[in-house]
Amino acid sequence: MKRISKTVAAAFAFATFAGAAVLLGAGKADSHEKMLLKPKAEFCYMCHADKKAVYMKSGHGKFDVTCDMCHNSHGSGNKSMLLKPGQDMCYACHSDVKDHFNKSEHGAAGITCNMCHDPHGTPDAEPAKQAPPAKK
Ligand code: HEC
Ligand code: HEC
Ligand code: HEC
Ligand code: HEC
Repeated sequence: MKRISKTVAAAFAFATFAGAAVLLGAGKADSHEKMLLKPKAEFCYMCHADKKAVYMKSGHGKFDVTCDMCHNSHGSGNKSMLLKPGQDMCYACHSDVKDHFNKSEHGAAGITCNMCHDPHGTPDAEPAKQAPPAKK
């Protein structure tokens, strides 16, 4: 497994701690917690099942960065119910990227993290749709 950088580790530790107080506290598979219909780890996938396979394989999923570390189910006043608006959401844990990025040609040109990364992970290359039809 890749090593986690010190900056990310520190921010992540804080987010895990804060997250536990919000919706999807890390780990515990107790369906009764917060009277949710599913254990927290499975909760969002109840309706957003399309995210599951890709997310589990992503850099975030592998490190147990849970949905609630970026989204608030009850809304937040920000687009997509994000806990922080736009790139500030990424900087919450990747503060090391912030310093360079804002001074870079990409940052200056208004390119954002999401134009190059999907925080939910990216699917494997599309498998061949189907075998070529058999000759008659
Ligand atoms: C009972 C079903 C249900 C559950 C459970 C659920 N969602 Fe949703 N969610 C929806 C529906 C329906 C929408 C609106 C349609 C859409 O955008 O997919 C939505 C929209 C969203 C959006 C906004 C999409 C946008 O357009 O920006 C986010 C983000 C989101 N959900 C995250 C979550 C997270 C995180 C969880 C778990 C904490 C969760 N949802 C659990 C049904 C659900
Ligand atoms: C690291 C932060 C982060 C995490 C963790 C995260 N999201 Fe998101 N999510 C975002 C951002 C940023 C957007 C807005 C994307 C955009 O506007 O282009 C978003 C958008 C969405 C949307 C609406 C657009 C879409 O892609 O369908 C849904 C639904 C959603 N997230 C669900 C989830 C679920 C479910 C999880 C947990 C499996 C999750 N998110 C985990 C950052 C995150
Ligand atoms: C709650 C903390 C947290 C937030 C918020 C967060 N990340 Fe991460 N991110 C992590 C952790 C933990 C890792 C895995 C360890 C590492 O690579 O340092 C990671 C890894 C990554 C990686 C490398 C993935 C890989 O496979 O090597 C990318 C790219 C990334 N994040 C992009 C983003 C973007 C874009 C956002 C904003 C939408 C974001 N992150 C928000 C915690 C976070
Ligand atoms: C123009 C495209 C682009 C943009 C915009 C971008 N990234 Fe990246 N990012 C990359 C590429 C390419 C890599 C892989 C670098 C490598 O492996 O050498 C990467 C790697 C990463 C990694 C893995 C660790 C590392 O440094 O190699 C993290 C974390 C990350 N990006 C976070 C972010 C965040 C946060 C933002 C927004 C502030 C962002 N990126 C914006 C292209 C981009």
